[in-house]
Amino acid sequence: MARKSIHGEWSSRWIFILAATGSAVGLGNIWKFPYMAGENGGGAFVLIYLACIVLLGIPVMMAEVLIGRRGRQSPVNTMITIAKEEGANKHWVWLGWSGVVAGFLILSYYSVIAGWTLAYILESASGTFAGLDGDAVGEVFNTLIASPGQLIFWHSLFMLLTMIVVARGVKEGLEKAIRFLMPALFILLIIMVGYALSTDSFVKGLSFLFTPDFSKITAEGILKAMGQAFFTLSLGMGAIMIYGSYMPHDASIARTSFTVAMADTGVALLAGIAIFPIVFANGLEPGAGPGLVFVTLPIAFGQMPGGVFFGTVFFVLLTFAAWSSSISLIEPFVAWLVENKGMTRNHASILSGIITWVVGLGTVFSFNLWSDVKIFDKTFFDLLDFLTSNIMLPLGGLLIGIFAAWIIKQQSSIEELGMGDGPAYQIWSLLVRYVTPIGVGLIFLKSVGAI
Ligand code: PHE
Repeated sequence: MARKSIHGEWSSRWIFILAATGSAVGLGNIWKFPYMAGENGGGAFVLIYLACIVLLGIPVMMAEVLIGRRGRQSPVNTMITIAKEEGANKHWVWLGWSGVVAGFLILSYYSVIAGWTLAYILESASGTFAGLDGDAVGEVFNTLIASPGQLIFWHSLFMLLTMIVVARGVKEGLEKAIRFLMPALFILLIIMVGYALSTDSFVKGLSFLFTPDFSKITAEGILKAMGQAFFTLSLGMGAIMIYGSYMPHDASIARTSFTVAMADTGVALLAGIAIFPIVFANGLEPGAGPGLVFVTLPIAFGQMPGGVFFGTVFFVLLTFAAWSSSISLIEPFVAWLVENKGMTRNHASILSGIITWVVGLGTVFSFNLWSDVKIFDKTFFDLLDFLTSNIMLPLGGLLIGIFAAWIIKQQSSIEELGMGDGPAYQIWSLLVRYVTPIGVGLIFLKSVGAI
């Protein structure tokens, strides 16, 4: 298969791992995972989440990379090309489009939250958090989200940053930066775990995260754990597919997917281990919602030696992590604009940036002006998040798995995965053929009360 991507190729398998980890590790690990775990009872949620990573996430990631590398185009065109090649229904192209829509919707709110991290760089650097207790940090956070003006400012800045990198091309854009920022983030998280160890609630925090109490989890909690697994691995919308389309042909899909999933899970668990002891030591609520990280970590920064430095560096690194995720959210659409509309990357990223920015205003207002406006009992932000993470991504992932395992001929997938047709291939095939569709299907049914 000699197809080549017109957008270029990663220079090695390591660069793919770096880029895919850059996409996977982001706000989902450090902001979302802890508050989701906190809201859904802790241990049982974490266990289901981990099971979903292993049984659904890794196999679907392999499927996504496989399809991407075979098609070597934007997900929309890849779906058209491969469906034609394999003699499948042409409507599979809609899978590509639903990914594009999901990417826009996710980025629209992702950028608003990334804006909080930008704002927190400034707060940390100016010493706002020094010596503050939980209530006072809560005040800082509430004042920020109550101000549409501030949120719009930071959201705009983050979108601008995203557009700049996307315009330059993902390969040039962040590649160099991610190389050392990712390990730095990892080290800083370990320092935070060290701080958490010094509180008197370390064991309590750990046992909240790792002792499963299934009476605390609801059907919706299970759905959310599954959604979180897809979200955190960037699966189900084409981000990993397009990164796969830039992957060199000789790289092992299984090994790289596994590495990315492990790194991503490691970061999420470290974040949880750092945060919950601080939550309990300060008498805060684990179920505090989206503000959890933004009201707990600053307490630690305000108390620890060198806190201004560590706090500032932490939020800078978190911004980079969010940045390297955000570009992968619009890359599928940008690549399509370049392929089909002959646009330059500059124009394509400006256009996508503007659309996303406008939709993002809905999320901005959902924290203040529209906080009382509820659809299905959810604010605009909650609704977007629910729709994308818990429905669109798992559904997209399920269909990607079905496409890779049932539509693409076995001979082709064996050739593309390059690990022979032995037990490793058989296990993958079993997981995407049966376990993913049945697993996702059962969780969907359970969450609507049908079983
Ligand atoms: N995985 C990213 C995170 O955890 C978010 C993301 C989702 C990125 C879907 C791309 C696609 O922050």
